[in-house]
Amino acid sequence: MNDDVEGSRLPRRSVVNRRSALLGLTGVAAASATSAGAFLYSGGWLSTDELTPKRIADGFEQVYGKHDGFRRNHAKGVSVSGFFDSNGSGAAVSRAAVFQGGRIPVTGRFSLSGGMPHATDAHGTIRGLGLLFHVPNGEQWRTALINIPVFPDRSVQGFYERLLASKPLPGTGKPDPQKMSGFLAQHPETAKAMEIIKANPPTSGFDNSTFNSLNTFLATNAADVTTAIRWSLVPTHFAAPMQAAAPAGKDYLFDELVGKVAESPLQWRLILTVGQPNDPTDDPTIPWTGDHQRIDAGMLTIDSVQTEASSNVRDTNFDPLVLPDGLAASDDPLLSARSAVYAQSFTRRAGEPKHPGAIDVAKEPR
Ligand code: HEM
Repeated sequence: MNDDVEGSRLPRRSVVNRRSALLGLTGVAAASATSAGAFLYSGGWLSTDELTPKRIADGFEQVYGKHDGFRRNHAKGVSVSGFFDSNGSGAAVSRAAVFQGGRIPVTGRFSLSGGMPHATDAHGTIRGLGLLFHVPNGEQWRTALINIPVFPDRSVQGFYERLLASKPLPGTGKPDPQKMSGFLAQHPETAKAMEIIKANPPTSGFDNSTFNSLNTFLATNAADVTTAIRWSLVPTHFAAPMQAAAPAGKDYLFDELVGKVAESPLQWRLILTVGQPNDPTDDPTIPWTGDHQRIDAGMLTIDSVQTEASSNVRDTNFDPLVLPDGLAASDDPLLSARSAVYAQSFTRRAGEPKHPGAIDVAKEPR
């Protein structure tokens, strides 16, 4: 793994309710998320000369091909909108306006991981949910969550190496088993995370998936107390297990999502998990196990699905470092890497010709 090879693994920081040295960075992170400034707060991942956002974006193109106008990862998706009813409970840990109570309009995007915009839906493909909270005071909170319990990689180098190792072979359509087992031998943290992921199989669809931030963030409340948190969106309705055989249809997960929203709005509770002193804040491969304070901060309602277009979130960058006052990045090095690579992907796709995505909501079977 990069950290070990480099001999530069960051010390794992503990969670403490403390006035954080990062407090002043909240606004900076929000303002600079799509600029080169995001690199400065890099948690050390740029200590290798070669691994740049450009190189990582090139890596996605090498593995998935180049698809003009589409995201380099999570290329297949659909736009959604709705609202968040904040119940005020989140104010215990964060002074962010989004947690003070009241209804906040939300736009979002459900997606599948991978860089192929017309890929066939599959049970095992990671499901994503990007959300943008349009807070009335003019602030924004952008967050991108996925439906696995931990992230497979602890370092950017690990992510990049795993991405390359996962490239399907032309003959089998599957990754080279030797490359992948070689990678896992070098990255025991990924092998361990994969076991946790396997033990938590996906549910039947987008509508009943739990989506997790996985990265840790710092929340600061009105009394200036800073706490490490992770957040999740937990569906309000029964999480049906997936069927052994995938239903027919290339877009079955999206077809079902469009059909469900047409029937009635879908809802998730926003749960803030409060870190404890020994919880790692810089390593999303490690779950926060045992008893934790979980704050139910309110209800997300999604009541509309739209075909991706310039009028909706097709051209949004769900940069995880666009944060309101009261939320800030932790010391997790993946956060600044994500911000920089999302900006690289966004810049590329923004300058390319646009093509229709796989999901045309008007033509979806109901
Ligand atoms: C906790 C870890 C991560 C989570 C939860 C996550 C989640 C997501 C989600 C949900 C999307 C789709 C957002 C949308 O619909 O626009 C996305 C896009 C993307 N992700 Fe990640 N991701 C993670 C880590 C990473 C890492 C480590 C990289 C590479 C360094 C990466 C690269 C990308 C790229 C290039 C995009 C497309 C960005 C765009 O063009 O807007 N992700 N991610």
